[in-house]
Amino acid sequence: MKRALGAAARDVAAYIRTLDENLSEPPLNAGAAVPAAAAPLQAPSPAPLPAPAASAAPAAAVAAEDIALLAEKVKNCRRCGLGIARLNAVFGVGTYKARVVFVGEGPGFQEDHEGEPFVGRSGQLLDKILETVLGLKRSDVYIANIVKCHPMKSPETPEAHGNDRPPTPEEISACRPYLDEQLRFIKPACIVTLGSVATKVLLGIDKGISTVRGHWYDYPVELFGPGHPIKVLPTYHPAALLRNPNLKRDTWEDMKMLKEFLEKPV
Ligand code: SF4
Ligand code: URA
Repeated sequence: MKRALGAAARDVAAYIRTLDENLSEPPLNAGAAVPAAAAPLQAPSPAPLPAPAASAAPAAAVAAEDIALLAEKVKNCRRCGLGIARLNAVFGVGTYKARVVFVGEGPGFQEDHEGEPFVGRSGQLLDKILETVLGLKRSDVYIANIVKCHPMKSPETPEAHGNDRPPTPEEISACRPYLDEQLRFIKPACIVTLGSVATKVLLGIDKGISTVRGHWYDYPVELFGPGHPIKVLPTYHPAALLRNPNLKRDTWEDMKMLKEFLEKPV
């Protein structure tokens, strides 16, 4: 119990450090007008918690709790037919402190089995791109998909390979609110859409990926109020690079644009 509380306190402390709050007050014995030696004797009327922890802890707890609730909701979701056949819902992976969120189309065979996005061949390439061009690990960013369950050509055989298909418009609109909720929590500076499905869905445009990639757009949904758009950078899906390695050069250029954006002072 003590250890759990200690871990929770450390989580809260780590979270607080990431917030742009006034940290000038020392977290311990802040406002302790009482002499240090007197504190342990005051057990019957416990001393109030130090002000910074008292005000920040509930906010941190609520955010963490809400995202856990959302993940649980997705795990049990049956809002569309994909929820029936899936082996595992694939919520997302990475850090909620991410400044960039990568968004793919939907889980495939491997992702359905492991419950984590981009863990198959495309995922291995995505990891390599993150590492070599951006110097990042998947734990430094956040990775999610437009739909959280595996769209299958024959849903009765989830163990079959080559069973992937793109999500239908109905499946996309059923699942879409979850992604916006994730973005609300994470508050990223930008989104990288991987491939044409994610790009079309998030930008609401119907142009080919080769035309739109390599340019910055504003996310049309104002999640953080007017004037605070999340930037969107479309690029090729890693699966496309596996099929056509000639697309790697453009993708590398796009990732360099992303690197430059992320390195700009906030
Ligand atoms: Fe629910 Fe999305 Fe899965 Fe459909 S794809 S069942 S909306 S989580
Ligand atoms: N392709 C996607 O779009 N998403 C995944 O998670 C895996 C492959």
